[in-house]
Amino acid sequence: MKKEIKVFAPATVANVSCGFDILGFAIDAPGDELTLRITDKPGVVITKITGDEGKLPIEAEKNTAGVSLLAMMKELNAGFGVEMQLDKKMPLGSGLGSSAASAVASVFALNCLIDKPVNKLDLVKFAREGEKISCGENPHADNIAACIYGGFVLVRSNYPLDIIPLSAPDDLYCTILHPDVVVKTEHSRNILRKQLLLSTAVTQWGNIAGLVAGLLKSDYDLISRSMHDVIVEPVRSVLIPGFDAIKEAALSNGALGSSISGSGPSVFALSNSKEKAEKIGAAMQKVLAPLEVGSEVYISKINSNGPIIIG
Ligand code: HSE
Repeated sequence: MKKEIKVFAPATVANVSCGFDILGFAIDAPGDELTLRITDKPGVVITKITGDEGKLPIEAEKNTAGVSLLAMMKELNAGFGVEMQLDKKMPLGSGLGSSAASAVASVFALNCLIDKPVNKLDLVKFAREGEKISCGENPHADNIAACIYGGFVLVRSNYPLDIIPLSAPDDLYCTILHPDVVVKTEHSRNILRKQLLLSTAVTQWGNIAGLVAGLLKSDYDLISRSMHDVIVEPVRSVLIPGFDAIKEAALSNGALGSSISGSGPSVFALSNSKEKAEKIGAAMQKVLAPLEVGSEVYISKINSNGPIIIG
């Protein structure tokens, strides 16, 4: 049995505008790297974390990746221990599924080292245990499912888990603008309204169904018509400097649709060519310049692999 492995797990865009907590997709970069080693001493030891500016706990019981591993090892009755090094290669609190990427990297790495006895659905369950650190009890699975399965996923049900991978057009590109402000997932969930008008719900589920149908049929016009969120985006967008202008810049430069990535502050846009994706990125970033908010732009195809072994 191989004793050490290094893996990469990708960033993800949850919600995809109208699909709060039930839709997500993975992108090629950025993502997290994680090295895992099997040891004789039972338990999980995190030897080092890089790229987190000292913000993440090194104690396994308080760390997203550590908690995910502990849940998996308990279920497997593991008679061994593991040592782990986590290299954060993506911003924390960015809306790009940072905690999901770490959680997924850890359980994927262990599964590879022990010759893959655990299926993808169960890996989602273990990694979701780790998400409790950042979102509290009953965490959503949209980032984790997209990270593990790759591509677009529909989480038809969170409890019990029912995950449906969705096919999508080959030439979709994602542009992400990450403004240099931090939004805590817990906070941006707490500010959401708990009750809705029936008419609002009808609009939203029409859009979700339309978006799923548009992806499956590779119908760009339908994808574009459906990427409207009338429930979550109007509330959360106040947390993002220049949101309306950023979104408008994306749409007027050829985006099929644009919205908040996960719980923000990143804003994503989908388009159907690399040239458009780059033009959209430049236009979105230009909006932030006069606001004196720093930012990064990521451009990526949709990642269809999920996590991979890199060493
Ligand atoms: N679906 C979750 C939310 C994703 O929007 O709160 C958090 O990353």
